[in-house]
Amino acid sequence: MLFKQQALLRQKLFVLGSLVIGSVLYLVARVGTLDRLQPICPIESRFHPSEPEQIPLRTLQFKRGLLHELRKGNATKEQIRLHNLVQQLPRAIIIGVRKGGTRALLEMLNLHPAVVKASQEIHFFDNDKNYARGIDWYRGKMPFSLPHQITIEKSPAYFITEEVPERIFKMNSSIKLLIIVREPTTRAVSDYTQVLEGKERKNKTYHKFENLAIDANTCEVNTKYKAVRTSIYTKHLERWLKYFPVEQFHIVDGDRLITDPLPELQLVERFLNLPSRISQYNLYFNATRGFYCLRFNIVFNKCLAGSKGRIHPEVDPSVVTKLQKFFHPFNQKFYQITGRTFNWP
Ligand code: A3P
Repeated sequence: MLFKQQALLRQKLFVLGSLVIGSVLYLVARVGTLDRLQPICPIESRFHPSEPEQIPLRTLQFKRGLLHELRKGNATKEQIRLHNLVQQLPRAIIIGVRKGGTRALLEMLNLHPAVVKASQEIHFFDNDKNYARGIDWYRGKMPFSLPHQITIEKSPAYFITEEVPERIFKMNSSIKLLIIVREPTTRAVSDYTQVLEGKERKNKTYHKFENLAIDANTCEVNTKYKAVRTSIYTKHLERWLKYFPVEQFHIVDGDRLITDPLPELQLVERFLNLPSRISQYNLYFNATRGFYCLRFNIVFNKCLAGSKGRIHPEVDPSVVTKLQKFFHPFNQKFYQITGRTFNWP
C-alpha cells in the first residue's frame, strides 16, 4: 500500500516537473533571450534622465513573439489594427560603407527588441527612379513595427552618392546616421573580391586587383578605381557634413565588429538612446564560419550568408603598402573630424 502511494507521488512529481520545465522552455523560446527572464532593470536607472527617447518595457518584451509571426507573413489587417502596427520611416540609417560590415551591423542591431530592420536594401535616396516614387513608396517598403520601436534600414550606396545627403536631410534633418568602416585597403580588397566573384559566376575573366588599384602609366594609386575612391572615407563624409552636424553620425569599427562585436553594438545602443539589451548571449562565435553568429533564443539562431566573409585574393605586398601610404593622410583627417581613431597603418 505504502509502496503504491510512493509510486503515485513520484509519478505526480514527475508530471509536475515536466510541466515546469516545459513552461520555462516555452517562455525562453517565446519571449526571447535567456536574459529576458531576469528582471529588467528600470530603464531610468541605466540612462541619464535627460535622454529623450525611452522604450516602454511592454514594447521590449513584446517584439519577438509578434514580429516573428508577422515575418512569416501571417499579419492580417485585424492584427495590424489590434496591435497598432505601423510602417515607420527609419529613425536611423546605416549609410555605408560598402563591405564595411553593413549587413552584420543591421542584423546584430535587429537583435534589440526595440529595433526593427528593413530586410532589403531599399536604395530610395541613391536611385533616381525610386526617389521619384516619393516618400510614401519608401514608407511602404518598411516593415511593420510597434509605434515605439525604431526602424533601421541600410543601403551602403548612400554614403558615396552625391545627391543622398540633401535628400535624407529633406526627409528628416535630425535622423541618426551610422557609418561602419574597416581599414581602407582591406575594405578595397573586399570590394574587389565581391566584384570578382560576380564575374566568375558569369564565367567572365577579370583584372587582377593590382592592375586596377595602380595606374600602369604613373605607377601611382589609381584614384579613378571605385574601390579605392570608396575607401577615402573623409572625402565622402565631408559632403555629408554640409547637411548634418558631426554629432548626428556614429562611426562603427567594422574590424572590431568582426572580432568582438558586443562593445561596438553597445556603443550604437547608446548613440540610438536605446536601453542596453543586446548581450553576449545573443552572439556566439561559430568556428566553422570563422565569424560571430546571432542567437535570438534557444530555438532560433543564424549566421550571415556565405557571401559575407569571403576569402580575399593575395595582393602584392608592395601594392598594399602603396595603398596604405595613400590612405594615411585621409585617415588622419577622418579621425580628426569624427573623433574616432583607429590603428590603421
Ligand atoms: P569580407 O567578405 O571581405 O570578409 P557588407 O555587409 O557591408 O557587405 O560587409 C561584408 C563584410 O562584413 C565581410 O567582408 C565580413 O568580413 C564582415 N562581417 C562582419 N561581421 C560579420 C559576421 N558576423 N559574419 C560575416 N561577415 C561579417
